[in-house]
Amino acid sequence: MTGAGPLGRRITPAGRQRGRDVMAAWHRLTDGDTVAVGPADGTTNGNGHDSGPGPVGRRPMSLAPWSVDGGGREDGRELLSVENLSIHFGGVQALRDVRLRVRTGEVTGVIGPNGAGKSTLFNCLSGLLQPDAGTVTFDGAPLRGAPSVRARRGLGRTFQTPRLFRSLSVLDNLLFGCETADWSGHRYVFDPRLGRLPQIERAERIAALVGFRGDLSVPAGSLPFGDLRTVELARALCGAPSLLMLDEPASGLDADQAQSFVGLMRELGDMGLAVLLIEHDMALVMGLCKRITVLDFGQVIAEGTPEDVQRNETVVHAYLGRSAARA
Ligand SMILES: Nc1ncnc2c1ncn2[C@@H]1O[C@H](COP(=O)(O)OP(=O)(O)O)[C@@H](O)[C@H]1O
Ligand SMILES: [Mg+2]
Repeated sequence: MTGAGPLGRRITPAGRQRGRDVMAAWHRLTDGDTVAVGPADGTTNGNGHDSGPGPVGRRPMSLAPWSVDGGGREDGRELLSVENLSIHFGGVQALRDVRLRVRTGEVTGVIGPNGAGKSTLFNCLSGLLQPDAGTVTFDGAPLRGAPSVRARRGLGRTFQTPRLFRSLSVLDNLLFGCETADWSGHRYVFDPRLGRLPQIERAERIAALVGFRGDLSVPAGSLPFGDLRTVELARALCGAPSLLMLDEPASGLDADQAQSFVGLMRELGDMGLAVLLIEHDMALVMGLCKRITVLDFGQVIAEGTPEDVQRNETVVHAYLGRSAARA
C-alpha cells in the first residue's frame, strides 16, 4: 500500500520504513546525554556546557565555483517568528515573553551572559523542550512536534556540546543527515546541485565545505573536539536545512579558524540560508550578524543591528560592559 508522503509524494512501505528509521535515529540523537560526544578530555560542566576549547576545525572550502547555480536564492523573507515564548524550570524563569525574528539570507545573533537562556531558546525551537507559552511560526506555519519532525521541516541545529553517533563513522553520521534531507524532499538552499548527487558524494562535498579533511571512515567518537564541531556542522548541513541554528560554534577555534568559519557563514547566508547563531565572541558576532537579539535573565533586553546593540545602555550595562570588564 502506498500513501501520500510529506510533500504529497507517493511513498512505498519501504520508503515509509526508511522514514521511521530516520525519525527513530533523530530521537536517539536528541534524547539526552547518552549520545553527546563530549570533548576528548571529557571536560564538560554540570550543565552539559563546554568548558574548554579543543583543537580545531580546518579551513573550509569555498562554495564557489561549485555553486554556480544558486537558483532559488531569496533574501530577507521572514522564516522564523517567535512570540511570547516562556519556559520555567522550577523557580527559574529561563525564558520570559521572548520575541525573535529570523530572515532568509541573514545571520541573526543571540547573545547574552551565561545562564541568560540562549541554549534553552534553541531547545524550545528544536522541540527538545516544551515551552509553557508562546507561538513559533516557521516558514508560514506553526512549528510543532518532535525534533525529527522539525528537522524534516528544514530546521537544522548543532549543540553547545557536539552530539553525534559516537560509534558510527563520520560518513554514516553525515549520511544520516542526507537521509533526513531525502526523506523531507527539501532542496539544499545553499547549493541546489547537492540534491542531485548520490548521498555519499553529497556527504563528501559537505565535509569538504566545512573544512573537514580527516578520514570519513573513522568512528565519530574518536575525533578531537574541534573536528566534532566541524562534523556536527556538516551533519546539520547534510539535512538540507533552511534554518541553521548554531550554539557557540566558534568556541575553541583560534583566530584563523574563526575567520574561516566567518567566511563560510557569510557564504551560506549569501546563498540564502537563514542562520541563527549563539556566540560569545563579540567581534565575530558584530562582524557577521545583520541583527542581534540580546537576552538577559531569560528576557529580551535589546534587538537591532550590531550598532544599535553596542550603543544600547542596558546591553552595555548588563552584558557588554561586564565582558569588557572581564577582558
Ligand atoms: N534542563 C534544565 N533544568 C533546569 N534548569 C535548566 C535546564 N536548562 C537550563 N536551565 C537553567 O535555565 C537557565 C538558562 O540556561 P541556558 O539556556 O543553558 O543559558 P545560556 O545558554 O544562555 O548560558 C539557567 O539558569 C540554567 O541553569
Ligand atoms: Mg548555552
